Amino acid sequence: MTRFAERPWTQGVSFTEMLAKAVAERVAVAAFNVYDLASVRAALTVAQQTGQPILLALGERYFKNLRPVGVVGLLNGLLESPTMGAPLSPLGLHLDHALAYESCVEAVTAGFSSVMIDASQFDFAENVRQTRAVVERAHAHGVGVEAELGGLAAGMASHEFVSGQELLTDPDQAAEFVAQTGVDALAVSVGTVHGLYKGEPHLDLERLDAIQHRVSIPLVLHGGSGTPADLLHAAIRRGVAKVNVNTEVSLAAVGAIAATLRDHPQVHMAELDQQAQAAMESTMARYVQLFHPATAH
Ligand code: 13P
Repeated sequence: MTRFAERPWTQGVSFTEMLAKAVAERVAVAAFNVYDLASVRAALTVAQQTGQPILLALGERYFKNLRPVGVVGLLNGLLESPTMGAPLSPLGLHLDHALAYESCVEAVTAGFSSVMIDASQFDFAENVRQTRAVVERAHAHGVGVEAELGGLAAGMASHEFVSGQELLTDPDQAAEFVAQTGVDALAVSVGTVHGLYKGEPHLDLERLDAIQHRVSIPLVLHGGSGTPADLLHAAIRRGVAKVNVNTEVSLAAVGAIAATLRDHPQVHMAELDQQAQAAMESTMARYVQLFHPATAH
């Protein structure tokens, strides 16, 4: 079993510490989904360029593309590469939306620094039961745990596990859930959607306020794509310390590939890979800047 001390990319900063610092500074850590070499390289490059901590989030649904041990291998290999340059800000390897306990164990064993068990589709008691089991296992290895209470609606081009039915997080239940599970971060549903918004984005900031008053751990906002800056900043001021972004990064890469293929249908794959990475980088960098508002300090 990999011990915490053997995750050099964290620079000794745990998931909990990373998010606590974000809360104190009124900023949010960006969690970008990774599933291949281009996305891992893009996240590393953005960490280096911005100097901000970043979470590389492998979704359980991307296990067909890359398993946890594969992400660890890529990260180690890239960090050893002579072209990587200056030391990076602390990084975390995070498992995103795991439905299975076994996936969490796999990520913990591979050396991830945090995991998200998503039993939010079950009733409260079952969500608590599954989350507690993961907390016990993960904490024994110094690994942080995120869980979710409530459910996000599905927007356009979403690639997450969603029922499409929105269930906003109840503040009293949130406090009870945190007390019963011992989780380190709580993903809440307050109006963001997975994917692109179908209409005007709206966040229930009163609900977020109420949750923040009852819950003392950092909050997580899923469905970052397409959320306007003013809403993101309002959420960050209310205790959101981690924001997940997936759809927009992927769309940027696919758009870049499609544009090249229109004019150069016989382009080399290596070229396409680089273009995808560059498009991911600019989208990721924009979100990292957004999550660190100049007025935050
Ligand atoms: P978006 O795809 O809407 O950015 O949401 C990402 C997410 O929440 C991953 O868990």
